[in-house]
Amino acid sequence: MGMRVVAGPASQLLATRLASLLKCDVDLTDYKEFPDGEVYCRVTGKIKGADIVIVQSTYHATDLIYLLELIDACDEADSVTVVAPYFGYARQDKRFKSGEPVTARALAKCIKSDRIFTVNIHDPSILKYFPCPANDINAAPELGSYIDGLGLRDPVLLAPDDGALNLVRSASEPRKLHYDYLEKTRISGDEVKIAPKNLDVTGRDVVLMDDIVSTGGTIAEAIKLLKMNGVCDVYVACVHAVLARNAYIRLYDAGVKSIISTDTLEKATSHVTVAPIIAGALKEPLK
Ligand code: R5P
Repeated sequence: MGMRVVAGPASQLLATRLASLLKCDVDLTDYKEFPDGEVYCRVTGKIKGADIVIVQSTYHATDLIYLLELIDACDEADSVTVVAPYFGYARQDKRFKSGEPVTARALAKCIKSDRIFTVNIHDPSILKYFPCPANDINAAPELGSYIDGLGLRDPVLLAPDDGALNLVRSASEPRKLHYDYLEKTRISGDEVKIAPKNLDVTGRDVVLMDDIVSTGGTIAEAIKLLKMNGVCDVYVACVHAVLARNAYIRLYDAGVKSIISTDTLEKATSHVTVAPIIAGALKEPLK
């Protein structure tokens, strides 16, 4: 019967874009929450004998339940591929204190499909916990390409810390954009200096980039600092726009010009779609 895309409740737009690129049918999911908070879903298309691709980010715990339900609903398919563009709970990827779970591992172990794709999972070391072949897709070049098209003034892409440097590098290098990261130097017991490690950003447009922007706290601090140091406009780019609580207000209050994210989480800031890179990955044999 061939490939069919099942649109999970959390990734409806992305699933539709993906199906259109793959030139295959997209099956919608009927879903609802019962009064007690339990959730129900049903795949509306044909499952038996199909190669099913379920697209569902797992932001809230309920999204993960929907994903597990969808995998079970597809048990008569020839194969089931899961695309979890945003894999939630990935920041608890280690036991930081005794007695803690490695939550990313606990959740990854539950996803029993034939293969899984994630997009910029917070730490690729999590991939080994999935009980099936797992590949992570890098959306940073797509962000870099979008940023390059904005016509910014002598732009610099900046990681808020060295942890995000690889992401920023892979967004910048294909387009030959300048990049750097903010380095924290302790001057004295109570004085810390935070500044770009190598580049002078005075008079330039800056794009602060991270994998996830959640409360916006990390980025808002960086924006304030850059604004005090004579940069022109500050943009924020991320793969996963969690934008929890009052993150929008926090970032605009700090002086951001615009927020750019992908559609791994479908937000007003999702100017970049990851559908083409997912479609490309689905066509390739797993590494
Ligand atoms: C952390 O490890 C991530 O890469 C992000 O830097 C973090 O999730 C950002 O969180 P927030 O927006 O709440 O500062």
